[in-house]
Amino acid sequence: MSAGQPLRLSPIMAGAWRMAEWQMPVAERLRWIEHHLALGVSSFDHADIYGHHSVQQLFGQALALSPGLRQRLQIVSKCGIRLVAPGQPGQAIKHYDSSAAHVRASVEASLTALGTDHLDLLLIHRPDALMDADELADVFADLQRQGKVLHFGASNFSPSQFALLHQRWPLAGHQIEFSPLHLAPLHDGVLDQCQALGLPAMAWSPLAGGRLFTRDDAAALRVRQALLALAAECQVSLTTAAIAWVLRHPSRPRPILGSRRSQVSAEAVAALGLRLDRQQWYRVWIAATGHELP
Ligand SMILES: NC(=O)c1ccc[n+]([C@@H]2O[C@H](COP(=O)([O-])OP(=O)(O)OC[C@H]3O[C@@H](n4cnc5c(N)ncnc54)[C@H](OP(=O)(O)O)[C@@H]3O)[C@@H](O)[C@H]2O)c1
Repeated sequence: MSAGQPLRLSPIMAGAWRMAEWQMPVAERLRWIEHHLALGVSSFDHADIYGHHSVQQLFGQALALSPGLRQRLQIVSKCGIRLVAPGQPGQAIKHYDSSAAHVRASVEASLTALGTDHLDLLLIHRPDALMDADELADVFADLQRQGKVLHFGASNFSPSQFALLHQRWPLAGHQIEFSPLHLAPLHDGVLDQCQALGLPAMAWSPLAGGRLFTRDDAAALRVRQALLALAAECQVSLTTAAIAWVLRHPSRPRPILGSRRSQVSAEAVAALGLRLDRQQWYRVWIAATGHELP
């Protein structure tokens, strides 16, 4: 795959954010990757900081067990958050950093940790108030020319922040939080912008980080009840119903799954075969907002 080719992402992605917590031996990490590939989930989401900068190495160790595996998957990574953490000298406070020097250093560290020669997609993790779009476009051009990063995008940007960077460099996607417990992108213009530009939105925490199943405030209880009713009607699991709800938006967001359990991922992938009708989708929206449509 080269920079000249369009970005390819699987319709459902897998996120490695929690991998350090799972404490899996390397063979089990490899099984986690292979299980997703077998389901058609070939795009894996990372960030330099995940697991206090440990997750990319955990993933890279698993990849190293199976030569050829790298060519079968896409790696998305993010950079731009600087944590106060061991091995990160000079960080007195957590801050955002989209400077060319930091982006370059982060990419080099990610490539080494993952044991790969390129990232398929690099995202600026959070909007940096000091972001200089021209400086970023220059470093993107350099990294692409060197073949180290094929495509670039953003995460958690407002539509205007995304538009600013997109003016200087053709971004390839936007990663945002979206689930029945987080409706903001439906109203803040982010999903409209993805649809308008024909760019993939990637939906992080599509099961609300597990809170769809566990949170017990009024909104969560209403949403769970609505999703359970939908699941019963469609004869699917709650996970399938929730992911089908995310997928139903016309911008076709790509849910990024975060479970260690293969059953959860399999149920999520089953949602690709379930298209909710408008009334089914709006029942969940009404449960989430707590009010009928005007
Ligand atoms: N760009 C960003 O700023 C950003 C921010 C956050 C995350 N992300 C990306 O998005 C990915 C996914 O985020 P996420 O992990 O929050 O996704 P998620 O799929 O919404 O949540 C996964 C969590 O839900 C739990 N869960 C699943 N089914 C459950 C059930 N039936 N009952 C109770 N808990 C259940 C899982 O636990 P089990 O493992 O036990 O199933 C896991 O802890 C991350 O890995 C990361 O790549 C990006």
